[in-house]
Amino acid sequence: MTDNKKNTLQHIAIIMDGNGRWATKRGLPRLAGHKKGAEAVKIVTEAAAEAGVKYLTLYAFSTENWQRSPEEVNGLMSLLRDYLKTDFKEIQEKGVRIRFIGERHMLASDIVEEMEKIEKQTINNDRMTLCIALSYGSRQEIVQAARKIATLAKRGDILPEDVDIKMFSDMLYTKDMPDPDLVIRSSGEQRISNYLLWQVAYAEFYFSPVLWPDFNKETLNAIIEDYNHRERRYGKA
Ligand code: FPP
Repeated sequence: MTDNKKNTLQHIAIIMDGNGRWATKRGLPRLAGHKKGAEAVKIVTEAAAEAGVKYLTLYAFSTENWQRSPEEVNGLMSLLRDYLKTDFKEIQEKGVRIRFIGERHMLASDIVEEMEKIEKQTINNDRMTLCIALSYGSRQEIVQAARKIATLAKRGDILPEDVDIKMFSDMLYTKDMPDPDLVIRSSGEQRISNYLLWQVAYAEFYFSPVLWPDFNKETLNAIIEDYNHRERRYGKA
């Protein structure tokens, strides 16, 4: 494929990995890595919007991350509180819509209130959608979709044969969003870690050795350039 025949790139999903290692390498506490990682969120969000990407989904906290030390979990939650009050405002002023996916009932109520406020305030922003996966687990998302469908069937609202890919997709947190075209994981790890399992059925994958706090516009643009040269076939010959 040549440069003048680029692949569509509507949606990038990123697993932001390597904050802890970035900090440890510098003799700093892990939270210092998360703080620098939060700065990278702003830089990469703007770079994605400038590149014409319409959806950027970032894995900020997984359902499994609740098992980290109370010190790290509390540190991340307090970082998130600050971010909701300041940095998301900066992002929102650049025309970006912000939404959240994940298990909200696990989060503190003041955090959920701020999230809902930002979602409402940015609903008409159409430059790009930034979707933050927070307390998110893909298997949990799929199970809650199956439960919703089972409830509808039990009530007699749908028949088993009504259940199809479209209906199932519409029961996921990501309904109304196109599937990711490209999934990026930073820090050299090559795992999917319970992230968007249903949605990545035909996504391209890119594993970058760069630790998330070091990610910037150049890192992202180089990955987009690599993606543009891939041949996507969606199972066709
Ligand atoms: C993975 O690195 C990163 C996380 C679990 C948290 C990601 C959070 C941020 C980038 C900052 C907060 C974001 C927002 C939107 C406020 P790791 O800790 O697993 O790194 P390691 O594998 O090197 O230990």
